Order: sequence, then structure tokens, then C-alpha cells
Amino acid sequence: MTQATKTPRVALVTGTASGIGEAVVDHFRELGHQVLAVDFNEQAAEKAEAVGAVFFRADLTDADACRAAVDEAVKRFGRVDILVNNAGIQHVSSIEDFPEAKWRQIVDLMLTAPFLLSQACWPSMRDNGWGRIVNIASVHAQVASPGKAAYISAKHGLIGLTKTAALEGGSQGITANAICPAYVKTPLVDNQIADQARLHGMEEQEVIEQVMLKNAAIKRLIEPAEVAQMVAYLASDAAGAVTGSSWNIDLGWTAQ
Ligand SMILES: NC(=O)c1ccc[n+]([C@@H]2O[C@H](COP(=O)([O-])OP(=O)(O)OC[C@H]3O[C@@H](n4cnc5c(N)ncnc54)[C@H](O)[C@@H]3O)[C@@H](O)[C@H]2O)c1
Repeated sequence: MTQATKTPRVALVTGTASGIGEAVVDHFRELGHQVLAVDFNEQAAEKAEAVGAVFFRADLTDADACRAAVDEAVKRFGRVDILVNNAGIQHVSSIEDFPEAKWRQIVDLMLTAPFLLSQACWPSMRDNGWGRIVNIASVHAQVASPGKAAYISAKHGLIGLTKTAALEGGSQGITANAICPAYVKTPLVDNQIADQARLHGMEEQEVIEQVMLKNAAIKRLIEPAEVAQMVAYLASDAAGAVTGSSWNIDLGWTAQ
């Protein structure tokens, strides 16, 4: 590991009760970063405290809660260097049947909250001449699948936000990048396996092999820690020339 990646930073990470966000908090703490872990689920509090991160409770579909989270980070740590927009949910339904309220919830959480959090962190990053925004997008930011209109639209939009932030931040020491994972072994995917098994009348293992890994060259699910390593690189000094990009960690899904 280079010295650069060991520079302690202040990070705000969203969606930390489980999965990728939890792994990012753990890895950032290993690297010595101070972390504000933001989630609406109280389970995140215990997990954050166990690794020496600070928990802040916020429902990120609420604009005021997004701004309050950044205020809390600045109050506690004096600045925000790294923002990881990770919190997300899924809802599977055809466009014809998609509930409007669910569409709005997904877009609020997965596109509007990253915008509001980036906006609120911007003055701190600009004043320090150093900032890293890492947006957890998805392979579904690049390709679509039926039944996930809101998720796919929000994730495609997140790539647009990432590119715009990169262009605006370039002269201010702020980079913005997106990570696009295929299926990662997290509760979000566990729930989908169970749902799809019921839907297709399949065994859960068949769902993994025939649905989730159908387009994958490497036939396994991704570990949250593998995504966390990529986040850490994009959030490091070493990645100072990397901006406006989308990093696939998709088992070869989009190679075809
Ligand atoms: N798991 C995958 O296969 C996969 C693949 C590609 C992208 N992603 C993306 O990675 C991110 C994390 O997903 P995960 O798989 O780790 O899921 P997860 O369900 O394990 O974690 C999601 C987190 O978001 C939090 N959250 C949900 N709604 C919230 C709200 N309104 N306010 C605050 N926090 C809220 C949850 O409490 C939880 O901690 C998501 O953006 C997801 O779209 C996941």
C-alpha cells in the first residue's frame, strides 16, 4: 500500500447498516479515516460504533436530513473530504404496475440525495482544495433489465451527476467517480433471490445461476469488501487524475 492511501481523511458514507456501505466503513476505519456513517436504520449505529465510526441517523429521502448529515460531519470533524453515496433500495415491478410513490422514493434516495449531499459537501471540499465523491451506481447504470424502471433510471441519472460533478470539480481539487457493480452478496440481493425464486418457481441456487449470473463471465457473486477496495482507491490521493469515470466490477457482464 502506498503512503498516499494512508492519509487520514474525513468521510461521510451513506447506507451503512449492511452490505457495501458497511464494508466501506470497515475498510475506511482500517485506513484510519474518520467516518460519519449515515443511515435510517438503527442497526447501523451499533456497527459504526464497533469500528470507531460515528453514526448519524437520517432518512435520506428527506432533503433536510441530507443537509443535516453534512452539517453533523463538519461540526464533528471540521470538514468532509470524501463522500460515498451508497444508500439504495430496489423495487421490482413492470412499468405498467410501478407504484408512483415507490418511483419517487427510489429517485429521491438514489439520485436526489447524492445531488443534495454533493452540494452540501462542496464548500468544504472546495475550501480545502481536495475532495472525493464516489457514487455507488450499478451495472444497471449502463444496461437495463425489465422490472426495475426506477432503479435503472436513478442509476443512469447518477452517472450524469457524476460526470457533471467531475467537470465542475476539476479546477477545485474535487474528483467524482462512479462504481458499477453486478450482483454483490448483500441483503438487497438476498431479498431479490427469495423474491425471484417465488416468482419463477425456482430454487434459490437456480436463480443465482440462471438469472443473476446469466451474463457473467465469472460465475460467482461479488463480495462487499471487493467493492470497498475500489471505493478506497477512488477516494485516495493516488486516484487524483481519475474523474468522471465509471468503474465496472461486474464479473464481465458488460464485456459482451
Ligand atoms: N448488492 C448488489 O448486488 C448491488 C449491485 C449494484 C449496485 N448496488 C448498490 O449498492 C448500494 C448498496 O446496496 P447493498 O447491496 O449494500 O444494499 P443493502 O440493502 O445491504 O444496504 C442499503 C443500505 O441503505 C440504507 N437505506 C435504505 N433506505 C435508506 C434511507 N431512506 N435513508 C438512509 N439509508 C437508507 C439501508 O438501511 C442499508 O443500510 C445501493 O446503492 C445499491 O443500488 C448493489
